[in-house]
Amino acid sequence: MGKLIIDKNKCSLCGKCVDVCPEKVYEIKEDAVVPIYEEECIACGHCVAICDKFAITHNEMNINEFIDIPEDLKIDSEKFRILMRSRRSIRKYLDKEVSKEIIDVLIDVGRYSPTGHNYENVEFIVITNKSKIKELANLTVSFFKFGVTLLKSDVVRFIAGGIMGNKTIKRLSEMIPTFERLERYWKLGEDLIFRGAPVVIVTHSEKSDPIARDNCTLALCHIMLMAEVIGLGSCHIGLFTAAAQRSYKIKKSLNIPKDNTIFGTLVVGYPKYKYKRLVSRRPAKVRYI
Ligand SMILES: Cc1cc2nc3c(=O)[nH]c(=O)nc-3n(C[C@H](O)[C@H](O)[C@H](O)COP(=O)(O)O)c2cc1C
Repeated sequence: MGKLIIDKNKCSLCGKCVDVCPEKVYEIKEDAVVPIYEEECIACGHCVAICDKFAITHNEMNINEFIDIPEDLKIDSEKFRILMRSRRSIRKYLDKEVSKEIIDVLIDVGRYSPTGHNYENVEFIVITNKSKIKELANLTVSFFKFGVTLLKSDVVRFIAGGIMGNKTIKRLSEMIPTFERLERYWKLGEDLIFRGAPVVIVTHSEKSDPIARDNCTLALCHIMLMAEVIGLGSCHIGLFTAAAQRSYKIKKSLNIPKDNTIFGTLVVGYPKYKYKRLVSRRPAKVRYI
């Protein structure tokens, strides 16, 4: 039996499945829809979801997840726009736990974010253990401390400039005050990496997949917006991602498989403050062609 099963008694031959399939798996042959390139199927589920008659089932997908979308699902676009514009990176959190149920909802929307070729290869690590978060922050601060030592050496800057490009080294050098601040505050007992958030979500994926980073970023973006709707705050933590990608100790601490690397980090929690107004942004640099 193949993975795509079409119930001929239900199929109306409308051709929608043929039309929406990104991989051109189907053809209409005489009086039936036939999956002629079934091996090309990427299990995106579009054919099952588009069918008015629910005539298609996919053996490798959970049929129970094909839930009817409510007809009246209408999100107010102006409210959604304000929601997206009012989202702020939250760096001050209440000392309040986020329940496992809520974290599961966040991960669930992350799992529904688009992935290139529907690889669904984003892996999540959810860290709520305070001592683990502290350990990771400590490793990150140490990583940047070492980085500052290297960046302050003329010899290292010269060699690294040849390898990484002088512009990158200049950018990194401009970050020295930020890196030094991390250590200064860490010593004072304040974590400027994870910002005291109760939940840290790390995404990792296959190093060999050239678009794994995009997949991870999109998953975290979905989670970020869902968090906003739930009343949670979040902040992307590029500092941790940058350190984690390069630090053996961090990868070991999180038990990252050797073929994978960390592509994104988001902290989540209940915000301590509520922002009163939107902020200003530079005009978009956009070209219409
Ligand atoms: C890729 C990326 C990495 C970021 N890394 C950090 C970080 O390590 N620490 C932090 O406090 N904020 C981080 N931020 C948050 C940005 O500073 C923030 O998005 C920016 O200042 C705009 O503020 P807003 O998100 O409130 O609009 C990051 C944001 C992005 C998109």
